[in-house]
Amino acid sequence: MRKLVIANWKMYYGPVKAGAWIRAFRRERLPKDLDIGVAVPHVSLAAARSSLGRAGVPLLGGQDVFWANDGAYTGEISPAMLKEFGLSFCLVGHSERRVNLGETDEMVAKKAAALQKAGIQPVVCVGETDAQKKKGETLKVVRAQLAACLQGVKGDGAARPAIAYEPVWAIGSGKPCSPLDAKNVHEAIREVLVKKYGKASAQEIRILYGGSVDPRNVAEYVSTTHVDGVLVGSSSLDPRAFGMLCRAALPA
Ligand code: PGA
Repeated sequence: MRKLVIANWKMYYGPVKAGAWIRAFRRERLPKDLDIGVAVPHVSLAAARSSLGRAGVPLLGGQDVFWANDGAYTGEISPAMLKEFGLSFCLVGHSERRVNLGETDEMVAKKAAALQKAGIQPVVCVGETDAQKKKGETLKVVRAQLAACLQGVKGDGAARPAIAYEPVWAIGSGKPCSPLDAKNVHEAIREVLVKKYGKASAQEIRILYGGSVDPRNVAEYVSTTHVDGVLVGSSSLDPRAFGMLCRAALPA
């Protein structure tokens, strides 16, 4: 399976800054065999759609979505609307949404299923908090999140899900999860996927690691068993650092 690197711009880049990032990123040399995507804020989709591809980023993504395709849902954006922008994927259940907005596993499942119906790949984010890790509950928490977040989500087809394992304590902290710990959690995630979807489909579902990935540590994750790519926040904000990270992920 080709490795996948996704940049998560979070709430940093509006259309003007997005345009500047993309222009700068065009100068980066990128590995041919790497899949690269950027999850952009909704208001920057128009700016990104027309130029990301030319900058060597074929996969345009969103950071959130609502589960209905239209209706009286003030402030929300539907899967059908995102499809109009040609999105390939969309994050759902990022821990910042769970913490700041009270997003639940049930909401995440509805969003993921709605994205699939629109032909957009959901990237389902799961991960334990620091307190849960300290109590030794990592695998229990991640398994429970997966069971709930994948309710009604299909495991095959072009919009098959990807899973992002992002320990909450590792996000933006500069304290990444060790590759060995990530390997163990990813292995447990793969087991859940095999049970739910069967071996053949489960092997096609990418499991990404996220949390303080940078150009220096990315190669270790990407070469770890069951780690099919990475989801990158802070180190994606500087286009040169992100270019360096992509090159380090798959050294020539
Ligand atoms: P980070 O963020 O790379 O800054 O830790 C990752 C994420 O939140 O997706």
